[in-house]
Amino acid sequence: MTALLEAAATSGTGRRARLRRAATRVLLGNWTGAATVPSRALYPHQWSWDSAFVAIGLRHVAPRRAQRELETLLGAQWGDGRVPHIVFNPSVPLGAYFPSPDFWRSSGTDRNAGAPSAVETSGIVQPPVHALAAWLVHLADPAESRRRGFLPRVYPGLAAWHRYLATSRDLGGGGLAAVTHPWEPGLDNSPSWDAALARVEPAPRGSFRRADLDHGSPADRPTDLDYARYVRLAATYRDHSYDDARTPHAFAIEDPCFNALLIASEHALAAIAREVGADEGTHRRRAGAATGALLDRLWDPAAGVFLPRDLVTGEPITGYGVSGLVPLIVPGLPEEVAAALVRTARGPRFRLGEVHLVPSYDLTAKEFDGNRYWRGPSWFNTAWLVHRGLARHGETEAAHRLRAQALDAADRTAFAEYLEPYTGEGRGIRRFSWTAALALDLLHASGETSGAPDNTSDNASEDDVPGDDVPGGAREARSGGTPEGGAGEGGSAR
Ligand code: SER
Repeated sequence: MTALLEAAATSGTGRRARLRRAATRVLLGNWTGAATVPSRALYPHQWSWDSAFVAIGLRHVAPRRAQRELETLLGAQWGDGRVPHIVFNPSVPLGAYFPSPDFWRSSGTDRNAGAPSAVETSGIVQPPVHALAAWLVHLADPAESRRRGFLPRVYPGLAAWHRYLATSRDLGGGGLAAVTHPWEPGLDNSPSWDAALARVEPAPRGSFRRADLDHGSPADRPTDLDYARYVRLAATYRDHSYDDARTPHAFAIEDPCFNALLIASEHALAAIAREVGADEGTHRRRAGAATGALLDRLWDPAAGVFLPRDLVTGEPITGYGVSGLVPLIVPGLPEEVAAALVRTARGPRFRLGEVHLVPSYDLTAKEFDGNRYWRGPSWFNTAWLVHRGLARHGETEAAHRLRAQALDAADRTAFAEYLEPYTGEGRGIRRFSWTAALALDLLHASGETSGAPDNTSDNASEDDVPGDDVPGGAREARSGGTPEGGAGEGGSAR
């Protein structure tokens, strides 16, 4: 057993200690030496928002490794600021994952976008959870973070990433970032994208081979027709050198979850800026402006939920997706908006507290499918976000219940990728990294494994209070008494 597992095993008692140990074991097993794969089989490379969630969990058991996770991702950042959604591991065979590097051809892209030459990546992006993750990683062990100069090292890349989203991706000109492919909001086959995707000419049948079906049940995965459209959109972007201004975007959507994460991360970037001696005000102003745009452009008071906006039609996309609840995490959201979101979460469409976690799509909709990826199953990352939002708005009991459900489900299902919301059965693959990582974070939030009171995970100060509130007793005490000493860069866990 590694030092990391030993430390995990001794840091709590009973079921929670076992869960902590099992979650740590998943992250160790999925660590490649510089980053964590979401799954050895289905997703054998580094994924952008997965790594951010992984870092958020890893910080509790190996803060230096959590820093490294984010630094590796930023090492593949493009010159124009985009953080690619996949960083390919060259030692993985091309056929192990589709679309592989020979599809994306990032290093052969013309110089304008500035794709790195030393590493192959995809050309699209995923939700910007990274600055929030970096700030949370810093808070887990500020002394070690400062010693390694972690925040000064990641700040320029994170600032460039946000600038890219605020400029090149403001395709609607209204102050929000647009996604240009269903993989970008991370909710690949959500019914919310059906109408927009229907406009896309599918790539010819037989022109590609899906590797995902080698590892997952077809009933849990997107359909072949979905894939044919994903391929067309990605190929069109590639064939326009991933140039946002030149690409004729058939799919261009302002997504509430993506933009809520950008705002939460902009607040985190302000805290980081303050810590590194950069200009905090710019980030606070951007966060405020984006919050105004989110409310103006995506809030639907009659529906009681945020709706994505289709920039091709100029119309909101009706329907209830979990993405529309995630703005609960946005600092400074008007209380009446937060209260309406909580009502919607508790209502018949999401049945918060009655079904398992938070369904990814409206339980009452005809499109709902409790097994198929993002068309209904409950996911741990969105549950973690909703948990955070509930805690922020004083919904303590609902937050506690959701956390207990998530920990129970992670344990029961061996860290399933997602759950059927009515039965709570695991779907997709097992030993999924962000499920394990977010279970670790939620375990920590419960304060029941560390022996030290946790004031980082449920506390609004994590993402909107500047860094000088950090050196409190609990945080310092925790960093002295938790496993990172044995699990650092030179530790046996590596
Ligand atoms: N989620 C997509 C996949 O299933 C791509 O990010 O591979």
